[in-house]
Amino acid sequence: MRTHTCGELNKIHKDQEVTLCGWVHRRRDHGKLIFIDIRDRYGITQVVFVPSVSPQAHVEAQKLGPEFVVKIKGAVNVRPDKNVNPDMPTGGIELLAKELEILNPAKVPVFEIEDTVDASEDMRLTYRYLDIRRKKVRESLLLRHRLCASLRSFLNSQNFVEVETPVLTKSTPEGARDFLVPSRLSPGLFYALPQSPQLFKQILMVSGMDRYYQIVKCFRDEDLRADRQPEFTQLDMEVSFVDQDFIFDLSERMYQQVFQEVLGLDLVIPFPRMTYAEAMAKYKSDKPDRRKNKPACRQAGINSTEFAFLWVVDFPLLKYNLQEKRWESEHHPFTGIHPDDLALLESGQYEKVRGRCYDLVLNGNEIGSGSVRIHQRELQQKIFDMIGIKPQEAVQRFGFLLRAFEYGAPPHAGVAYGIDRLVTILTGNESIRDCIAFPKTQKGTCLMTDAPSQVEERQLKELGIIKANSKL
Ligand code: AMO
Repeated sequence: MRTHTCGELNKIHKDQEVTLCGWVHRRRDHGKLIFIDIRDRYGITQVVFVPSVSPQAHVEAQKLGPEFVVKIKGAVNVRPDKNVNPDMPTGGIELLAKELEILNPAKVPVFEIEDTVDASEDMRLTYRYLDIRRKKVRESLLLRHRLCASLRSFLNSQNFVEVETPVLTKSTPEGARDFLVPSRLSPGLFYALPQSPQLFKQILMVSGMDRYYQIVKCFRDEDLRADRQPEFTQLDMEVSFVDQDFIFDLSERMYQQVFQEVLGLDLVIPFPRMTYAEAMAKYKSDKPDRRKNKPACRQAGINSTEFAFLWVVDFPLLKYNLQEKRWESEHHPFTGIHPDDLALLESGQYEKVRGRCYDLVLNGNEIGSGSVRIHQRELQQKIFDMIGIKPQEAVQRFGFLLRAFEYGAPPHAGVAYGIDRLVTILTGNESIRDCIAFPKTQKGTCLMTDAPSQVEERQLKELGIIKANSKL
């Protein structure tokens, strides 16, 4: 339907006949002359309707309202110098309209499609399709796309394989509440949506996949904050026959390439490292923000302190849950034990035992977390014992992992990075919601689709949630 996009015409297209499609961004009616700005994903082009050029198009243009969808055929006119808009890539030209077709009229939008908007976030989320037409939101989504494409391309070049893991699965212990899905075929039983693909990626190592990654949705039913969503995306990775240093080096090279490709920034690697003990002693935080200190990246030779990465290492393996009066894992129960601390574990000095786990912190935000894993069944069983998971319960919940460990499990390590958080930082947005196309509110609702919503009584009966003969 179109020959060009609304962001590409300039002086080299002088006098060419072109057709553009897009949304009416603005209309200025000067009686004889009608100007409209037509917008699409790529930019904005000014169109002028002159009665002497096309009386019919001029009459049609009088009907145009904001956000009408239009198709316009015309000739590219180079603007006189005084009318050039240097702030727009298309600011040197305008389209002299010959034909106008209204593809679809539109209601007056509930807020203006402008860079800054005073509509409430609730309003923006209810009409998210209007919000995504705004440059700021659109550009966050485009950056997210480029980031994921670049991550994939780096990992593919390093022999990684993207493997999909199930969404309907069994509970995985990442410390949050599970979202449950009732099973119709097994009434009374439930799937859990994965809090992460942790166990599947470890099993893929037992399967010999060697280098796995996945850009994957994870689900956690926890209280929401500015940097948390109930469903969010991880770049999840796992590698066999490696230690912590391999994961660090790989991740650093990955971020270096991706920052270069996506932002044109030259990251300095390796990233600094700090132990958990040092971070807590110096900064009273396990995710210190080390910017205000050293330059972390260079842009065109200029030192910039905008992106400060930091590895935090040697977290405690266990923490004491005062309420439940039991030890629990600081990261998750599959974390390996610091080789120097095995004796401490044997002698019951749990609080002193360090895990082989690490976090990657960016500007004071935890953007990733991982560990060298336990790969021996007995040791895994021992950790379950320590955190109060009885042998029978361990078999019931994680029997498949324990069994897999009996069939030749290689030493392995991995990490998962929070894509939404990463994009939030890279785009300078305040909320994770700005970097997700269709996010949930703080209450976990989707204002656009109105989820979660009621379902029919028939569905609940089918699922065995209410008895077949009962009334709601
Ligand atoms: P963890 O639970 O630390 O580790 O998660 C990894 C990263 O995912 C991001 N993240 C979130 N982002 C948005 N909303 C949330 N609710 C949310 N929760 C976590 C964070 C975090 O650093 N399986 C392990 C990883 C591993 O051991 O390999 C895991 O999921 O950026």
